[in-house]
Formats: sequence, structure tokens, C-alpha cells
Amino acid sequence: MAGDAIRITFADGEPVEFLPLPGDSVLVAAEKAGVKLASNCRAGTCGTCHATGPGGAETALCVTPCAPGQEFALSYNRADLVPASLRRAKINSFSRISAGVWEIRYRMQFPLPFLPGQYVDFTFPGIDDPRHFSMSNPEGQGEQVIHVRDLPGGAMAEFLETRARPELAFSLRGPFGIFYLRRNPRPKLFVTGGTGLAPVLSMLSSLTAETAAPMILIAGFSREADVYGRAQLSDLAARLPLRVIFACSRAAPGFDGVAQNPVRLLEDPEIAGFAAGAEAYLCGAPAMVTAIRARLQEIGTDMRAVYHEEFSHVVPV
Ligand SMILES: Cc1cc2nc3c(=O)[nH]c(=O)nc-3n(C[C@H](O)[C@H](O)[C@H](O)COP(=O)(O)OP(=O)(O)OC[C@H]3O[C@@H](n4cnc5c(N)ncnc54)[C@H](O)[C@@H]3O)c2cc1C
Ligand code: FES
Repeated sequence: MAGDAIRITFADGEPVEFLPLPGDSVLVAAEKAGVKLASNCRAGTCGTCHATGPGGAETALCVTPCAPGQEFALSYNRADLVPASLRRAKINSFSRISAGVWEIRYRMQFPLPFLPGQYVDFTFPGIDDPRHFSMSNPEGQGEQVIHVRDLPGGAMAEFLETRARPELAFSLRGPFGIFYLRRNPRPKLFVTGGTGLAPVLSMLSSLTAETAAPMILIAGFSREADVYGRAQLSDLAARLPLRVIFACSRAAPGFDGVAQNPVRLLEDPEIAGFAAGAEAYLCGAPAMVTAIRARLQEIGTDMRAVYHEEFSHVVPV
């Protein structure tokens, strides 16, 4: 292909090349050339189309204009892309599982294959735009589970407090996302903030003691009252080579975790030593993910093996 072709390399080294098209984003030019890449919002907000450009900077291919000779690296393999489908679903049950977190359990008419860690777009009755939520259950279960942050005044809180009921029908579309468990023998560090724990629970629940490498999970929460998942994580830690640390900088004396935020915890020499040789999975608020990535870079972690998902939110226009 001509020297001005755009070159994109998948994680396993498979390259694809296509010509830039004036006025199109890299994502659209790739699609016009028949190259399927991960995407969802196409507006630069969901993070699904992220790639690493020259100099290691992350960029959203859906809003990056084409230019001759561009080169990008992807963190996923082409074979891992699961096409998105639409499903009808019904709520089984829903409840608060901590002061700031709701759990919704639901079932679908037909199964929806996904990779542990991926998310789905939910359209609930009375909420105009789809909301992204990550499955916390492993693949292949009849009942699916999501964890929803309680944002007072938010559309989801209003729905759950006033209109949600068992058997209520809704639709969903997915799966999406490149934040999924890479099945390899590398030690793994997970750092989560709030409901960022949900996709990591899906990943951990998918592992067996025979296939899992040593793992550390730092589950961060801004308030002690928001902590959830204790029983499930205690079961996982009993059957997997997993150490779980709850981190909450505003915890009262007697808290069963550490009274620090996850970023500070990575200054602990033992945890920093583990992180330096581990693959890392980071999920939660954008500021936490950015701070942990910066710390991992200082520690010397291989940044090509640092996977992350920001639970960002942009009000659609
Ligand atoms: C890929 C992806 C996966 C996600 N998975 C999950 C998940 O598993 N669990 C989960 O709880 N969330 C998840 N989120 C975030 C979630 O989709 C949105 O935060 C949620 O739709 C907003 O809830 P709402 O509809 O009640 O708020 P809205 O009614 O839309 O907003 C209410 C108010 O809260 C603000 N707000 C909304 N969301 C956030 C936020 N995340 N941070 C700060 N302020 C916010 C809004 O700007 C607005 O002022 C994910 C986001 C992404 C991009
Ligand atoms: S598809 Fe590019 S950020 Fe959502």
C-alpha cells in the first residue's frame, strides 16, 4: 500500500493498513476500508475506540482526523471483538447493596455472549438515552447482575426509587469495551473505585484456581458506607490466589481495610514491587485511573499491559 497509508497494529502484532480519507475520522476510514474496530459512542466519550499513538499518547480513533502515515497500536486482538446485538430483558430484582450502590439483577430472552469486564448499553423505560453499565457476573449465567452508582437526582436513581419493579421489560445492546480479562499467566493487579469493582468481579469470577496467577485487588471507595462486595470477594479470595484490600481514605477506626486512597497504597513497597511486574486493570472515576496510571509508570510497570476503563459520563446533546 502507498506510503501515506494509516497503519494499525492489534495487540498480537497483526497489522492492518488503509488509506486516509479527507474529512473522516480514523475509525470511519478504517470501517470504509472494511476494517472492523471496537467502538460505541463515536463521540469521544466512552473510551471503547482508544488506541495508542506515536509517543504513547492515548487517543479516541472516533474523533481523531485521518492523516497520511499515522500509526496506532491497539490493546486487543481482532479475534476478541464480539459483535454487538440487541436484547430484550426483564428485571428479576433490584436493591441497594451499600449506601451509594444499587444492584440490578435481570434476565434476557436470549443469551448475550461477552468477555468478562465488558459493558452493555441499557435503555430503561422513561430514560431517554442509553446508560453504560458493566456486568459483574461471569459469562454464561441465566441471571445477569449490574452495579449502579447512586447519583442523587440522577436518572437511574430516580428510576430505581420510583418506577423500577420486578418483571419490568427493558432493552440492552452490547457487548462493548476493550477492558476485558486477558487470559495469560501474568500476575494481575486490579485497582477499582466505587462501582468500578463490577467488571473486575466479572473477571475474577471467571477464573479458576488452576488458571489464575497471583493477584492483588485494591477496591477503593470514597466513603466507608459505600463499600460493597465483601462476602463475594471473601469467597473469591478463599478459592483463588487473590489478596483483597479495601481502601477508603475517610474510614473510621475499626475499618476492615486501609484508611488510604488506592493511589497512596501504591507507595507501599510490597504492593509497588508486585505492581512493577504485573499486568494491571484499572476501573473507576477518570481522575483515579489517571493517577494510578501515572504511579504505575513511575514504578516501571509495562504500560502496554495496563488496561483501564473510566466511568465517565457526558450528558448527550
Ligand atoms: C464504559 C463505561 C462503563 C460504565 N459502567 C458503569 C457501571 O458498571 N456502574 C456504574 O455505576 N457506572 C458505570 N458507568 C458510568 C455510568 O454509565 C453513568 O455514570 C450513568 O449512566 C449515570 O447515571 P445516571 O443516569 O443516574 O446519571 P444522570 O442522570 O445521567 O446524571 C446525573 C448527574 O450526575 C452526573 N454524573 C453522571 N454520571 C457521573 C459519573 N460517572 N461521575 C460523575 N458525575 C456523574 C451528571 O453529569 C449529572 O449531573 C460506566 C461508564 C462508562 C463510560
Ligand atoms: S467510540 Fe470513540 S470514545 Fe466512544
